[in-house]
Formats: sequence, C-alpha cells, structure tokens
Amino acid sequence: MYPFETWLSQAQDHLDKTGRPLVSLCYAQSLDGSLSDQPGKPLKLSGPQSSELTHQLRSLHAAILVGVGTVLADNPRLTARLPGRKTSIPQPRPVVLDSALRTPSTARLIQGAEKSPWIAATSAAPEDRRAALLAAGVEIMDLPVDAQGKVSLPDLLVCLGQRGISSLMVEGGARVLQAFLAQKLADQVIITIAPLFLGGVPVIEPWGRIIQQPLRMIEVGSQQLGADLVIWGQCMAPA
Ligand SMILES: NC(=O)c1ccc[n+]([C@@H]2O[C@H](COP(=O)([O-])OP(=O)(O)OC[C@H]3O[C@@H](n4cnc5c(N)ncnc54)[C@H](OP(=O)(O)O)[C@@H]3O)[C@@H](O)[C@H]2O)c1
Repeated sequence: MYPFETWLSQAQDHLDKTGRPLVSLCYAQSLDGSLSDQPGKPLKLSGPQSSELTHQLRSLHAAILVGVGTVLADNPRLTARLPGRKTSIPQPRPVVLDSALRTPSTARLIQGAEKSPWIAATSAAPEDRRAALLAAGVEIMDLPVDAQGKVSLPDLLVCLGQRGISSLMVEGGARVLQAFLAQKLADQVIITIAPLFLGGVPVIEPWGRIIQQPLRMIEVGSQQLGADLVIWGQCMAPA
C-alpha cells in the first residue's frame, strides 16, 4: 500500500475539518519538467505501469479535474480503467475548469461519461453554450471569478466540498497545475517522471515568479515503475 492511499483514506476527515476536498496534483512530466511537447498537443509520457497507477488514483478520488485546455487538446474520458479487473471500480466525478464554456458537447468526457461531468464556469459564459451543454447532460456550476477573470479556485473547492466531494485529483494541464501551486491549494502531489528530456510545455513557467515562496514537500517517497520514477509527498502548510 502506498502512503498516499493512507492519506486519501483520511479525506473525509479533511473535508469535515476544512469544508474542502483533499487536493492531489497527479501528473506526468519529463526530466526537464515538461508536461507535453507543444502547447495544446497531447503526448503520452507515462509507461504502462505508471499509467495503471494513474487509473488506480482516479478510482481512489471522488472527483477528477482538468482545465478546458486539456479537454480541447487531449479529449480525455477521465474514467478509471484497469484492464483485467473483472469487477467494476469506483469512478471519479469529472470536473472541468471552463470559465466561458468552451467544452464541446461532443467531448468524450460528456459522451462516454460514467458519471455526468460538472463544469465550473462563470456568469460571463455565453447562453448558447450553456444551453448546448445542459442539453448534453452536463451540470454547470456558476462560480465567482478570480483577479484574472478565471474561475475562483477557493470558491470551487468550497462548492465541491458542499457537494460532498472529499478528494479531488487535479490532472492538468499546465495552467491549472500552476494555478493550484501558486495559490497553495494542493495538499499532496504524486508525480510521474518519465526518463526523457523534452524542452516542451513546462509545468511551471520559468522566471515568472508564479510561486512566490518555495512550496516544500514532506513525507516524501518514491518508487520506480518500469522506466518511470513516481515521486510523492505532502505539501507543507503555508507558514
Ligand atoms: N502530462 C500530463 O500529465 C498532462 C495532464 C493533463 C494535460 N496535459 C497537457 O497539458 C496541455 C494543456 O494545458 P493548458 O495549460 O493549455 O490547459 P489547461 O491547464 O488544461 O486549462 C487551462 C484553462 O482552464 C481554464 N481555467 C478556468 N479557471 C482557471 C483557473 N482558475 N486557473 C487556471 N485555468 C483556469 C482557462 O480557460 P478559460 O479562460 O477559457 O476558462 C485556462 O486557459 C496539453 O498539451 C495536455 O496534453 C498533460
């Protein structure tokens, strides 16, 4: 059993105490910290064993979140799939950060949904997009905007907590991971490091001082899975 499974088993306590889900950032990067090759293009970085861990992690969380950039680039299903497993496994609730409702109604996370997705938008989203997504079975959460005009992440977490979501897996992409890190809203990270240099889209933009203070991990551990290194840790609470 991985330590983060124990941490996740305490998610309900976290929700009861804070009113917010336990937030895990779970993504794959190259040795130089790139998430993908080019902006807006998908690239499979994880090998088969670490991909299986990703699907286990999806199944261990109550909800999984990506930004609309990832929906448009990768068209992910955001389901937990473990080949060979005979019994069905718990599925996370897909959540998309999408201020202006750019998610297409034909997206795989809508059409192939095990659980109907929730889209976190703002009141500025166009009415025709709202109507099309509601007709496709999506639930839209209208949330306040932050200083950049995007969905306010603290408000989103409170809203998810009120809906009983005790754990949230944040899978990407770059802008969303940066936003969670910069606002110190992550509780733990589980990062797959694939053994290649890519020089592509960085998880954290260099020199931008997006992260004002160092964000340290504690309870750090790692394991090699195939050719990949998986590293995990809890985020130290801001002083
Ligand atoms: N390696 C991995 O594990 C992994 C995982 C996932 C994705 N990816 C890659 O990441 C790339 C996509 O990344 P991306 O940066 O273009 O898109 P993204 O992070 O998936 O989505 C960013 C968009 O989310 C919306 N958003 C709403 N509220 C936000 C908030 N508070 N903070 C940040 N974003 C908010 C914004 O669009 P609006 O202004 O329209 O709301 C923003 O442009 C793709 O190449 C994909 O393949 C890699």
